[in-house]
Amino acid sequence: MAGWTKTAQLAAQPEKGRPLAFSAWVEVNLSALEHNLRLLQKLSAVPILPILKGDAYGHGAPVVAAFLRSRGCSTIAVSTVEEALDILAWTKPQIMLLTPPLPDQLPAVVEHSLTPTITSPHLVGELNRLAEKGQRRLSVQVKVDTGFGRLGVAPQDFLSVVELIANASHLKLGGVFTHFSAAAWDRRFTRKQLQTFLALREQFQTHTQAPNVLWHAANSAAFLTLPQSHLDLVRLGTLLYGQAPLPLPPGYSLQETWRFRARIIHTRWLPPGHSVGYGRAYRTTRPTRIGVIPVGYGHGLDLEPQSSPWRQVRHAVAKVLCPRPTVLHGGEPLPILGRPGMGLCCLDLTQSRLDVGDVVTLHTRRTVVGRQVPRLYYLHGRLLCTFWNGQVLNLQGRTISLKGLF
Ligand SMILES: Cc1ncc(COP(=O)(O)O)c(C=O)c1O
Repeated sequence: MAGWTKTAQLAAQPEKGRPLAFSAWVEVNLSALEHNLRLLQKLSAVPILPILKGDAYGHGAPVVAAFLRSRGCSTIAVSTVEEALDILAWTKPQIMLLTPPLPDQLPAVVEHSLTPTITSPHLVGELNRLAEKGQRRLSVQVKVDTGFGRLGVAPQDFLSVVELIANASHLKLGGVFTHFSAAAWDRRFTRKQLQTFLALREQFQTHTQAPNVLWHAANSAAFLTLPQSHLDLVRLGTLLYGQAPLPLPPGYSLQETWRFRARIIHTRWLPPGHSVGYGRAYRTTRPTRIGVIPVGYGHGLDLEPQSSPWRQVRHAVAKVLCPRPTVLHGGEPLPILGRPGMGLCCLDLTQSRLDVGDVVTLHTRRTVVGRQVPRLYYLHGRLLCTFWNGQVLNLQGRTISLKGLF
């Protein structure tokens, strides 16, 4: 993708000026993130609510939140109270919680003026009591289950929950939303979900006087496939981070925002017939030079979601028929030998001159890469800061705040 051409240059000397040379790290291209945001804003008639759950899809939520805030996104959404508090330790956007808080978390919701999602009548009374005690009027959102089968008020219970909120002196209904379960694969079902949602909106409008209630439904896939679902705002994660849930239409020149890099920590020659790694899943057939990198399934390498047996089979067949190299150097694939371990795997370097300290690029699942792996943030082609060990570090390795950084 276009964004990578730039970051390939940025990362030509990723260690320059950095006091600690990391063995594995994630590069986040903030310019690409901004490019995607602006592009999606142009393609959308309604505001975008950026989704930062899952540590901003593996990009490091505090820095991404501060950056998006500096670019005009005053409200963001995460899943949990924990995720919200993690961000608020660094920057103070308005935060919507996409999942209902636990009863024990309600005091934190009120204290930090988070916008909780209501999925049942049970939290309303206690939330209102705490908001009154804290002398706040809290904006809440109601989630309706139109077919996902996970979280949300059943359509038939929707109006009674709305009424409960309307009667709560210190709560205000700020929005109503639903989530699509198959917008990338099943348009008929997605349209049905939307119809159910729109029918509720009609009922709502005839039964209540609540002003300024935002109705929202679209995620990235629905943003692309079902423009009627854009409604009052769109909740975007995947597209914002430069990924495509389905083939993109013309005009979607998204840029890649994330990439995983690691250094080779060890090389050695193995004779023919030597097994490599756990389970002895691979045996050399000739003298083989292996290179070890400190990356494994714990970093999302070769990790696929558990899903139906049919999807697993389809995935395995696709992998054989159209292999996508997992490890690359300068665009050239480097075969992985044997099974990746939790934090190590072996590459075949027989045909390569790569040595200890050299850098490779990996395709891994972004959301799996934990906070122990440093995030390096680039803006306008330059390394700006590193988020690691619970700290934001400048180029000299000193702890800095995010204020005014962007
Ligand atoms: C409720 C909700 N809305 C929106 C999104 C964003 O989805 P996407 O990454 O497909 O844009 C998510 C993410 O899973 C979500 O849980």
